[in-house]
Amino acid sequence: MALTEKIQAALNAQVNNELDASYAYLAVATYFDNEGLPGFAEWFRGHAQEEHEHAMKIYNHIYQRDGKVALEGIKKPKSDFASAEEAVLAGYEHEQVVTGQIHALFELCAEEKDYGTQNMLNWFLAEQVEEEDLFRRVLDLGRATDNNSWFLMQLDEQLERPSEGGESEA
Ligand code: FEO
Repeated sequence: MALTEKIQAALNAQVNNELDASYAYLAVATYFDNEGLPGFAEWFRGHAQEEHEHAMKIYNHIYQRDGKVALEGIKKPKSDFASAEEAVLAGYEHEQVVTGQIHALFELCAEEKDYGTQNMLNWFLAEQVEEEDLFRRVLDLGRATDNNSWFLMQLDEQLERPSEGGESEA
């Protein structure tokens, strides 16, 4: 069954949203690289890559359902932050925005009776729970440093070595 126009437009918007998230996290990575915190930077680069993969999952679904992908422009991302905490908070808040987007898409699929797309979105619902949890945990760790540069550097090392720190697995 081909996609309805409404669903195709909404899925295309979400491809754009995921690419927007990818670019936003890459910009946060540049902030951390500029601050000399390569562990945080790597963590955010990893997430930028994941968001690109999310965009491609939806991209592939559109073509599997005989639709067409139409890419839009991506807005300039924020890369200046007052602190590491503010930068991680921006990522956490961005994840919450994406969760809202996925929920709206899920509801639209119910209205349009597009159960195939709704099933594809189940993966995203679970992913958002995982991502929000992960970002919140890193935010809590960042807050615990109280912006002390020594503690920040220790945390940075942990993020760079996931097997020891455990926070950069996703
Ligand atoms: Fe694709 Fe982290 O939202």
